[in-house]
Amino acid sequence: KRVVVFISGGGSNMLALADACAAEDYPAEIVGVISDRATAGGLEKAAARGIPTAAFERRDYADKAAHEAAILDHVETLRPDLLCLAGYMRLLTGAFISRYEGRILNIHPSLLPEFPGLHTHQRALDAGRTEAGCTVHFVTEGMDEGPVILQTRVPVLEGDTAETLAARVLTVEHKTYAEALRMVASGDVRMGG
Ligand code: GRF
Repeated sequence: KRVVVFISGGGSNMLALADACAAEDYPAEIVGVISDRATAGGLEKAAARGIPTAAFERRDYADKAAHEAAILDHVETLRPDLLCLAGYMRLLTGAFISRYEGRILNIHPSLLPEFPGLHTHQRALDAGRTEAGCTVHFVTEGMDEGPVILQTRVPVLEGDTAETLAARVLTVEHKTYAEALRMVASGDVRMGG
């Protein structure tokens, strides 16, 4: 399966997917990395691995629709089977999502449906949770609310801060996303069952 990965920052999840795709028997290959920020650190990491990259700075476009249309046009040229949002900090419109209905994955650093949105680790700590984790889900119009593909739990430890918890969750995000993408790319899992 041809996969395009969307990033906005360091791209550690993108790199984890790239590492997984390097395995001979893995049912996916990354054919492109897209970012909404030309300064995203993940872009050069992807390029260093020979993965084609493209950046679309929001300020270069009149409005959200034009920005997204430019991204969508470029994505089409890559003929992707699946899109993986990995630390991508922009919401896709319904038009974009319906174009790839059931074929967009996202990783979110909480045990959805708990803590959709931002600052998930601080919110988990404030709520006194003893467990946290990450969720890979299919992307639907609502933010962070599509069907769950795979979740991994980690313990919240005594004295944890949002930073220490985030670091612990990030390490399991990489394994979780690689396994979730395998499940979908292999056809084992489809949106809607
Ligand atoms: C990660 O916590 C991910 O769950 C969230 O963005 C953060 C950074 O991801 N969506 P990455 O290192 O850029 O992959």
